[in-house]
Amino acid sequence: MNGEFVAWEDAQVHVLTHAMHYGTGVFEGIRAYETDRGTAIFRHQDHLDRLEQSAAFYYMDLPFSKEQIREATHELIVRNGFKSCYIRPLVWRGHGPMGLNPLDNPVETMVAVWEWGAYLGEEGKTKGVRAKVSSWRRIGPDSLIPHAKASGQYLNSVLAKIESVKAGYEEAILLDRHGHVCEGTGENVFVIKDRLIATPGHSASILDGINRKSVIEIAGDLGYEVEVRDVARSELALADEVFLTGTAAELTPVREIDDIEIGPPGPITREIQQAFDDALHGRSQQYAQWLDVVQVPSRA
Ligand SMILES: Cc1ncc(COP(=O)(O)O)c(C=O)c1O
Repeated sequence: MNGEFVAWEDAQVHVLTHAMHYGTGVFEGIRAYETDRGTAIFRHQDHLDRLEQSAAFYYMDLPFSKEQIREATHELIVRNGFKSCYIRPLVWRGHGPMGLNPLDNPVETMVAVWEWGAYLGEEGKTKGVRAKVSSWRRIGPDSLIPHAKASGQYLNSVLAKIESVKAGYEEAILLDRHGHVCEGTGENVFVIKDRLIATPGHSASILDGINRKSVIEIAGDLGYEVEVRDVARSELALADEVFLTGTAAELTPVREIDDIEIGPPGPITREIQQAFDDALHGRSQQYAQWLDVVQVPSRA
């Protein structure tokens, strides 16, 4: 935290932290997996690049270089003795002048790691989850910055998530401002019909998921055509298979949407999920370059 290793219970901020009041933070969600080459962070550099991009959207320079954050993350994982873990870097506006101009508030940084299982449950990954199309629309580019992974923006996901959970579903799918399918509360969406795979693109206000990009590449390598295009809400109900991708949820099939049965995870979902899982866990030579193997820092 701000350049020091801090014990979990001592990692604290002032109550007047700007980001707590106005959401002026940006963050990443990253995972490290146990592999034959040791603990390896999946697409670490891509996450750090997106962190820097999100910070820039909100007029913040990272207080540390991406390489410093990368090395500190390695050391943090080693110090905690984790073989696999979730990694949460956060860059935020700290305690300073109160008010909506944050430019004179300090920019602070932390990286936290902890062991975290499947976000939508192990059963969700094997059997699929039930999702509900949310009454909340995904934030649009006319009011916020959908491509930034910014703390305040997640109030949109929080509302959708609470609505879906209260209604008895595991996840929500948000439509964009035009009524097209956008994404889950923390995942991108893929729809399969007649062996064609489709996923919404940037014009649908998605967060450009790193796992989305990985799955598009993997599906292409497996010989499937992936169309990046607008996806109509009705295509969810008509789909042969639907799945979600995200760092927390990994690849999670959707078996039911709005009480309409899609069915148990289908063959294409399972094939891509297997190849994706192999990439995450370092079992695939083809995608070995996506892994940042955790090195023990020489001073640790
Ligand atoms: C709103 C939202 N969309 C999509 C994603 C998927 O992104 P990624 O695959 O980079 O984790 C996430 C998770 O970070 C998210 O929070």
